[in-house]
Amino acid sequence: MIRFEHVSKSYGGTLVLDDLSFEIAPGQLAVLIGPSGCGKTTTLKTINRLIETDKGDIYVNGRSIARLNKVELRCSIGYVIQQIGLFPHMTVEQNICVVPKLLKYSKERCQKITHEMLELVKMPYEEYAHKYPNQLSGGQQQRIGVLRALAASPPIVLMDEPFGALDPMTRLVLQEEVRRLQQKLNKTIVFVTHDMDEALTMADTVIFMEKGRIVQMASPDEMLRNPASDLICSFMGKRSLNNQHLPQTVADIMRDKVVTVTKDHGVRASVELMSRKNIDTLILTNADGSYAGVVSVDRIKRSGKGYKTVEPLMNRGYPFSYEDEDGQVAFDKLIDGGVNYVVVLRRDRTVAGIVTKTSMARSMAEAVWGNGE
Ligand SMILES: Nc1ncnc2c1ncn2[C@@H]1O[C@H](COP(=O)(O)OP(=O)(O)OP(=O)(O)O)[C@@H](O)[C@H]1O
Ligand SMILES: [Mg+2]
Repeated sequence: MIRFEHVSKSYGGTLVLDDLSFEIAPGQLAVLIGPSGCGKTTTLKTINRLIETDKGDIYVNGRSIARLNKVELRCSIGYVIQQIGLFPHMTVEQNICVVPKLLKYSKERCQKITHEMLELVKMPYEEYAHKYPNQLSGGQQQRIGVLRALAASPPIVLMDEPFGALDPMTRLVLQEEVRRLQQKLNKTIVFVTHDMDEALTMADTVIFMEKGRIVQMASPDEMLRNPASDLICSFMGKRSLNNQHLPQTVADIMRDKVVTVTKDHGVRASVELMSRKNIDTLILTNADGSYAGVVSVDRIKRSGKGYKTVEPLMNRGYPFSYEDEDGQVAFDKLIDGGVNYVVVLRRDRTVAGIVTKTSMARSMAEAVWGNGE
């Protein structure tokens, strides 16, 4: 939807944007974050050509914006600026309809848009449409700022620290509202903030900038787990999870005490073993100790008659993962597979353990609260 290719910009010999390349997919909410002066606003303004770049290309919907008509481009991109920026001498309705009017929509159509927009944020038309900005609270003004950017239904909306001046509660409410509107109206949003909490709650993708460069572009989860620099860590403050203690591999979330028997184990002996250990499945190995499959007590009860060993009753297709894989692999198999556990193997295919919901929860709890030592 929006693609930067080697974009640079300098002011009087100082490089402000330094070879930026990235892409934001349609319907995504991307948050640009970084210290003051790192180039967030400049990046945003190059997208609607309020600032022209020196080098590189920016594509919107596959078309280079350098070749598009500026006015048309701006009408297709909503923009919410750093300060609220409503026109003080215009009513709420006139403010909302700035772009629709530029597009020469009829008076009726503008009125209809204002109705719909105000409805989105539960501010009744009759009560608010004819008020002036100074008759509204800060949060209400900011809502109108957002509605104004949405009024001509542009597919893309740029928002530059839209909530910077608001109290924390109003800010939370508006974050929610923008997220909801974005999903409902399926917008692609580029959102600038220097508040990491805001970035992590709102973003599909966080783009962290420093001195005109991208230091990291990642999902909020990924950035929390693997912040790419000390500066990013300090932006996260206490939200940053401590990497050392965070479970990451399958081995970190498994239980390693498991009962295994060879696949030629007797049927009756297996049932007795399960009942003694109070488990309902057994992990089976080949004679050389490598993993073979699992057998459940249910299966034995259903079809075990007439068999001597458990081998013919064995399930070879049971979900497993390797101990050095990302923990999420086992997590997904456990949750999506609707199974009670996932078998964990070493790379030599011997059995290392199992991941259960309990073993997973326990390792997560230890990471968050410590292991009580
Ligand atoms: N018109 C200009 N002329 C010269 N330098 C500029 C101009 N506009 C911005 N800059 C410089 O470019 C750099 C990036 O500015 P930008 O406004 O993009 O930062 P920002 O990341 O949005 O910062 P903030 O978080 O404070 O809003 C800054 O060092 C700024 O001083
Ligand atoms: Mg800025």
